[in-house]
Amino acid sequence: VADGERTFLVWGGGGHGKVVADLIRQSGGRVIGYIDREPRLEGEVVEPGGARVVMTEPAFLERAMSAAALPCGANAIALAIGDNHSRDACLDECLRFTAPALIHPGASVSASAVVGAMTVVFARAVINAEAQIGRAVIVNSGAIVEHDCVVGDAAHLSPGSILCGSVRVGKRTWVGAGAVVIQGIQVGSDARIGAGAVVIRDVPDGATVVGNPARRLGGGD
Ligand SMILES: CC(C)(COP(=O)(O)OP(=O)(O)OC[C@H]1O[C@@H](n2cnc3c(N)ncnc32)[C@H](O)[C@@H]1OP(=O)(O)O)[C@@H](O)C(=O)NCCC(=O)NCCS
Repeated sequence: VADGERTFLVWGGGGHGKVVADLIRQSGGRVIGYIDREPRLEGEVVEPGGARVVMTEPAFLERAMSAAALPCGANAIALAIGDNHSRDACLDECLRFTAPALIHPGASVSASAVVGAMTVVFARAVINAEAQIGRAVIVNSGAIVEHDCVVGDAAHLSPGSILCGSVRVGKRTWVGAGAVVIQGIQVGSDARIGAGAVVIRDVPDGATVVGNPARRLGGGD
């Protein structure tokens, strides 16, 4: 999906923000500038492409409540806050504006998959038939989402992670780099799956699991 005419404000000027800026440019868009929580970053260049923080988060929120259009001549917004909970908390504000999913030209997304607003799909990620990806999800570099998976809003599938067929992942859940979740497993909301874990049993809401086979940190099943 090339967003040729889109000019973006990027919400979040941290590490994830600069990766999203690259993704915007790689998919044909332009970065106008950043919105960030940190007042000390206002006016600062926060990424190698040269874009600056043009507005603090409180100023943006105030403006967003009253204005119909985005400031600074932007016509779209990208939500680029790395922390899943913070990203989820900002989701509704962004929906007032054009807030498209961003898909790297080198990702493979099935025509029958659904990808929600503000979700970012990085290079070499694969989303297969009839998968449903929520809003503001990070499908990181090389992550694989097999057929019929359902992924909740503001989840993060880290680089190289694999969801086998028909897996469900709840809202704001973090799947660590290289983790594998075998077919049919249900992972709750606000859960964390450690890097390299192999998940063969359902994971409850809020649980952290690590290892192969994955076991719950701090006990429990
Ligand atoms: C699972 C995770 C979230 C736990 O973080 P944490 O709560 O800070 O946990 P700690 O580092 O205190 O580790 C707690 C215990 O779990 C073990 N552990 C942590 N992560 C582990 C992992 N991925 N695999 C196996 N064991 C792990 C630690 O060795 C430690 O064991 P000990 O108590 O016997 O010493 C984190 O380690 C992790 O794997 N995060 C994913 C990172 C990632 O994929 N980043 C990609 C970003 S794009």
